[in-house]
Amino acid sequence: MERDVTVRVNGEPMKSTMDTETTLLDALRDDFGLTGTKKGCDQGACGACTVLLDGRRVVSCLVLAVQCEDRDVTTVEGVTDHPVTDAFVRHDAFQCGACTPGQIMSAVALLGEGRTGSDAEIREFMSGNLCRCGAYANIVAAIREVAGR
Ligand code: FES
Ligand code: FES
Repeated sequence: MERDVTVRVNGEPMKSTMDTETTLLDALRDDFGLTGTKKGCDQGACGACTVLLDGRRVVSCLVLAVQCEDRDVTTVEGVTDHPVTDAFVRHDAFQCGACTPGQIMSAVALLGEGRTGSDAEIREFMSGNLCRCGAYANIVAAIREVAGR
C-alpha cells in the first residue's frame, strides 16, 4: 500500500509517495536523494545507517518511514559544520568511509548523551558502529578531542 509521507530532514520538510513498508534508510536515499546515509547490513547490526530521530540515534534500516511522519531526522548532510565532522577529518578517522556517516552521527549523539568520560566509555557507547577498516583508534581520538578530554 502506498501513501504520502512527510519527514523533516535536517530542518526541511521532505515529502514522497512510498510503500508503507519503506524503511527510513531507503526513503532518505531513494526518495529524498540524501545518499550520505549508508546501507551496510540492512539488518540493524552494523550502524552504518545511523541517523538522529528527534535527537536520538536510531539505525534507519529498522525504522519505517511512515513512523517518522512529521518528526525530525538529522543525517550526516545536516552536520557538515559540526565539530565532530571536522575532528574526524583532522584525526584521519576513516579509510574507505563506508561506516563514517553512521560513526559521525553516533558520535554527535554520544556527546549529547554525556558518554565521553573515558576512552572505555566512548568505545562502549560507539560499539554499535562497526568499521571494517579498523579506524577505531582515530575515531576515539576525534571524539575525545571534541569532548575536551
Ligand atoms: S545498515 Fe542499518 S545497521 Fe547496518
Ligand atoms: S572506514 Fe571503512 S568501514 Fe570504517
